[in-house]
Amino acid sequence: MKKSSKYLSTGVAMLVAAAMLFALVGTVSAKPIKIRFSHVVSPNTPKGQAADMFAKLANERLAGKVEVQVFPNSQLYTDGKVLDALSTGSVEMAAPSTSKFTSWVPQLQLFDLPFLFKNSEVLYQTMDGKVGQKMFKMLGKKNMLGLALWDNGFKQLSDNKHEIRTPSDLAGLKYRIMSSKVLEAQFKAVGANPLVMPFSEVYSALEQGVIDGQENTWSNIYSKKFYEVQKYITGTDHGYLGYLVVTNAQFWNHLPKDVRTELEAILKEVTAWIRINALKINMEQKALIVASGVTTVTDLTEAEKDAFREAFKPVHAEFRDVVGGDLIDAVYELNAKN
Ligand code: LMR
Repeated sequence: MKKSSKYLSTGVAMLVAAAMLFALVGTVSAKPIKIRFSHVVSPNTPKGQAADMFAKLANERLAGKVEVQVFPNSQLYTDGKVLDALSTGSVEMAAPSTSKFTSWVPQLQLFDLPFLFKNSEVLYQTMDGKVGQKMFKMLGKKNMLGLALWDNGFKQLSDNKHEIRTPSDLAGLKYRIMSSKVLEAQFKAVGANPLVMPFSEVYSALEQGVIDGQENTWSNIYSKKFYEVQKYITGTDHGYLGYLVVTNAQFWNHLPKDVRTELEAILKEVTAWIRINALKINMEQKALIVASGVTTVTDLTEAEKDAFREAFKPVHAEFRDVVGGDLIDAVYELNAKN
């Protein structure tokens, strides 16, 4: 073979090899980006349904580019562990309640302050306004990026000892709480004993009498069957439960721009959906608890709620410096206007 044609065939072979390598790398990088979304509640709750809707829309609209998989019921991580998992890249998305972030961002305990929001309108204006934006900025720690605030609703009390009608009825009772100092202070203010516990352990702790009661939304009480192991549920609406949808900042910022833009648009859509539907889901599931007949449901009158407002009021002053007087005053101002 002539020298020149030998060089030519070597060159062709190299080109073919390069093309094959390129095709291989191309195939590898064309694999859909996996997004694991971990949460702790049942799929039939506001958050569970919203997470599934996010996955469905993302998998439809970004087919081949993204694959979202939802892991409900603490299947992957409990709330105490998911934020670490997010920071190390073991999971890409989560939506813990705001109370679960409070050891990193104590200001988020704003949402835990009892009877802070006069109504849902004030709550939404708070989330959508300056306060919400400040909260998102504070999430920079732990490489977290806040994507949305999802609604659940107002919390009720359940217990196994006796019917609750006045603040003094809580005295001496052991209540499970999420990991928030405000929630601890709230129960201590009425002489109850708060105990921090992951959501996944609450049912058996109630069943075995490790705790007497807990506070949660109607939907969580229904979907986790807490009502089956609680003799009394009291409709107090004394505190708020909502979620911060979070991701790993590095992961999110490295997504292809078109993918990120579409995912953010889908999140907006789902956030609007949950805001319209969360209360409806809670009310439907409350009705199912009442209809079950296995527990006594008592709705407090406004006058009875006022007694709880008074009893819990010192907690606002106690946490003014921790949460930030400016944030608390911003909500008070909205309460006055609404
Ligand atoms: C709880 O721990 O009670 C809630 O945060 C569970 C949830 O995610 O709604």
